[in-house]
Amino acid sequence: AAAELEPYQHYMQKEIFEQPRALADTLTDVVSITPELFGDGAWRHFKDVDSLLILACGTSYYSGLVAKYWIEAIARIPVQVEIASEYRYRDSVPNPRALVVVISQSGETADTLAALRHAKALGHSHTLAICNVGSSTMARETALAYITRAGVEIGVASTKAFTTQLASLYLLTLALAQTRETLDDAAIAARLQQLRHIPAAVQAVLALEPQIISWAQSFTRMENALFLGRGMHYPIALEGALKLKEISYIHAEAYPAGELKHGPLALVTSAMPVVVVAPNDALLEKLKSNMQEVRARGGVLYVLADAHTRIENSEGTHVIRMPEHYGDLSPLLHVVPLQLLAYHTALGKGTDVDKPRNLAKSVTVE
Ligand code: G6P
Repeated sequence: AAAELEPYQHYMQKEIFEQPRALADTLTDVVSITPELFGDGAWRHFKDVDSLLILACGTSYYSGLVAKYWIEAIARIPVQVEIASEYRYRDSVPNPRALVVVISQSGETADTLAALRHAKALGHSHTLAICNVGSSTMARETALAYITRAGVEIGVASTKAFTTQLASLYLLTLALAQTRETLDDAAIAARLQQLRHIPAAVQAVLALEPQIISWAQSFTRMENALFLGRGMHYPIALEGALKLKEISYIHAEAYPAGELKHGPLALVTSAMPVVVVAPNDALLEKLKSNMQEVRARGGVLYVLADAHTRIENSEGTHVIRMPEHYGDLSPLLHVVPLQLLAYHTALGKGTDVDKPRNLAKSVTVE
C-alpha cells in the first residue's frame, strides 16, 4: 500500500475511518444556525421557498432521500427527491418557489449538472449546491452553496462524502426550520449541539469493526443479500445495498421493511442474508414482525439494533448493537457499519475495492 495509506490497506477503509474528522471539519465554522451558512442572501431565498426539489445521483441521491424525512418532519416543507438523469429528461411541472438542491461529491457529475441547468432553464432561481469541491461547476452555477469538508475522496464507493452531506443537510433542515419558525431558538440550539456530538458518536460506531468482520465472513460466500429499513433508515438500507453491490459484486437489494410481503419475501431462503437496520423508533415493533416473517422462512437475520432495543442474538439472528441512540441523526450512525460490511466482504472476495470494475469516481460524460 502507498505510504499515505498507512495504517490502512485501501482508500475506502481510510475514508471510512476519517469520518469523525470529516464531520468535525464540515461543522467547524458553524457558530450558530442561520440561513447565511448557505451563502449571502440565503435568507431572501429561504423566505420565498414553499417546497424543495432535490436532484442527485448515486449515493448523493440517497442523502437527499434522508433529508426529505428531516425537512418534512422538522421544517414542515414538502420535499421531492429525484434522480437527476430522470428529472432532466422528463416533462415536469416547474414551481419557481421551489428550492432546487443539487447534491454532489464532485460537483461535476454530468447528469446532476444537466439537471441543474434544466431547472434553471425552466425558471428556477432558488438554487443550492451541496458539494465537496468548492471550486466545482455546480457550486459556481447555483445561487447558494454549502461546501462539505470531507477532503479528497479517492475510493470510488463514496463514504465520508455521504456522511458529510447528511450533516450539511441537517444544517439546512435547521436553517429552514428557523426561517419557517417551526422550531424555537432553544430547540434549534439543542439540535445543533446534538449534531456537534456526531463525530464522537461515529468514532464509537467504528469500534464495532471486529463484529462486522465476523458478519462479512458469512457474506463473502453469499450471492444475494436483502437490506431492510423503515422511514429515514430506508435510504440507509439502499445505501448499504449499493455499497455491497459496488465493491463486492454481490447482488443486493433494499426494501422498506413493510414492502417485504409484497414481493421480496418470495426470495427469502437460508441462502439470502437479510440485513435489518433497526432503529429505536416508533416503527420498531412493526420491524420486529417483519423480522419474524424472515425467520419463519429460514432467512438469516443480521440486525443492526439500536441502543436500548431488546433484540437479542438467537438461532439465525445475529445482532450488533449500536453504542448509543441518536434520534433524528441516527442515519449517520447506522450507515457506518454498512460501509464496513461492504468493505470487509469485498476484502474477503479479493475484489479491487478502491476501483470496482466498470465504475468511475466521477461520471462527467453521459
Ligand atoms: C458515481 C460514483 C458514486 C457517486 C455518484 C454521484 O457513480 O461512483 O460513488 O455517488 O457518481 O457522484 P457525485 O460526485 O455527483 O456525488
